[in-house]
Amino acid sequence: MTRTITTKNDRIFDQLDTFVVSTKANREVLNAEPFGVPTRWWVDPHVAGNALFFELLQRLDALTFGPEGMPMDKWVFYNCAELPGFIYGFAAEAETLSDLERDLMGVPADYTGPVPFSMYIAIPMREPGTWFGHNLASLNRTFPHRGLSSLGTITKSVALKAYRVERFVGATQWLSKALFIHTKFGPLDLLTTYTPAHSTSETLTYAFDVTDASLRAAAGEPGSALSFPEPTEQLDATDVAAMKRIQRELESGAKWELVGPPAYQGQVIRHPLRRVAAPKG
Ligand SMILES: CC(C)(COP(=O)(O)OP(=O)(O)OC[C@H]1O[C@@H](n2cnc3c(N)ncnc32)[C@H](O)[C@@H]1OP(=O)(O)O)[C@@H](O)C(=O)NCCC(=O)NCCS
Repeated sequence: MTRTITTKNDRIFDQLDTFVVSTKANREVLNAEPFGVPTRWWVDPHVAGNALFFELLQRLDALTFGPEGMPMDKWVFYNCAELPGFIYGFAAEAETLSDLERDLMGVPADYTGPVPFSMYIAIPMREPGTWFGHNLASLNRTFPHRGLSSLGTITKSVALKAYRVERFVGATQWLSKALFIHTKFGPLDLLTTYTPAHSTSETLTYAFDVTDASLRAAAGEPGSALSFPEPTEQLDATDVAAMKRIQRELESGAKWELVGPPAYQGQVIRHPLRRVAAPKG
């Protein structure tokens, strides 16, 4: 099968192939050729011989999430990702890496398997077709010489297709640069804007209906751009009082959307929001 999606950076497909971590049982429900992209490596978490690949995934997580202060323990990978859901991503064969890349990723000299460059983890939720996005990581900015821009976005897009997600739920921090990625999938329904249940209360929870159109648009397919409604309010990314005010409205039945990428000046500073429905009563 040939690839049926054109992305903003197809060089990614020249350099990297895709892997999935999945139990045998879960494997049956995965789309193994999302948008015609064949899955090259299948990694079973129940096979002890795959131990080194899990070390490399943890290294990828530490290199990317470490600086964010949220690196994952191996048990979190196993309990919260590999058993209930999938880990999908792009990887390169170890022998194609430079010495510097091998060093950074901690690849042992005698290892010859895949080395992950990105990963997307999602976990199925109780509602049929609904998945929670647990983790996204990309080495694009760690290995700038590779020219892998859009790797994070394309990994999320192709992974959602592989997992056959119909409704997506995610949680992220208002200051996270990953919001550049998440807002490419279309307007996002806000479920929370202030979330004390999370370690960081300044977390938003969002959701959207996943369609091929949203996945193609996010991946940057020419001619697939989505239209976004006009915002009714700009949320300062550090304005906790405004986050709490909108949260109170949501709890009273109002509907709000995030309708575009953040404004950025060295850091995320503002978000375009739209009040779609007023509180009830
Ligand atoms: C965030 C992360 C996944 C981005 O990966 P990536 O491969 O560089 O992402 P993309 O190239 O697809 O980025 C998409 C857009 O976001 C912007 N962006 C991404 N990271 C950025 C950063 N650190 N600073 C400024 N802009 C950034 C890109 O410029 C790009 O903009 P464009 O589409 O206008 O060109 C990666 O840096 C990472 O793993 N970070 C740590 C973990 C993390 O925060 N994960 C997300 C948790 S929800």
